[in-house]
Amino acid sequence: MDRDIDEILIDRHQIAERVAEVARDITQQMADRSIEGELTLIPILTGSFIFVADLIRLLPVYMQIRLMSVSSYPGKATSTQGPKIHHRLTDLPDDLSGARLLIVDDIVDSGLTLRLVVEELKKRKPASIHTCVLLRKQRPEAEAIHLDYCCFEVPDKFVVGYGLDYNDRYRNLPDIVTLRDEVIRA
Ligand code: PRP
Repeated sequence: MDRDIDEILIDRHQIAERVAEVARDITQQMADRSIEGELTLIPILTGSFIFVADLIRLLPVYMQIRLMSVSSYPGKATSTQGPKIHHRLTDLPDDLSGARLLIVDDIVDSGLTLRLVVEELKKRKPASIHTCVLLRKQRPEAEAIHLDYCCFEVPDKFVVGYGLDYNDRYRNLPDIVTLRDEVIRA
């Protein structure tokens, strides 16, 4: 698997350090017990699973976790095919009134996924919606999306590792990397 890597953009130590910083910010700002409403995390599967596993263990507060499964890049697609919510794998109550939601995703690229998820969640009348992503691409569509927490800005290249995939592979790479052109063309 390592021979498929072109470049390591963000290594595991940088990721750990930054995730810990963002967790401290979230703890201070969102876990304040004087604010009404329970914190509910909404991880967007599949790509966020490693990020969210690391993040929540650094948030020492009561929270509920409700999963959403959305996909836009099936198989070997490297540009969005339009986000689709997988309702069978999505674990959301119809009524989220009073909840303070924190959506957690691995990357904002076209921004379509996050827009769709926010629209879907607004229908359930939460008290508030905040967003937390690991990566944001440096492209206008991604930069136009409001994010409350963002760990890293990355160049507009196709990246994998730490949960992100190409054709469902490479999610288990501990660093965030680009792949060699031959691998993506194959
Ligand atoms: C990826 C990623 C984000 C979304 C971002 O999911 O996990 O959810 O795309 O892209 P966008 O900003 O262009 O909408 P993907 O469709 O690859 O599904 P996966 O998480 O199951 O791999």
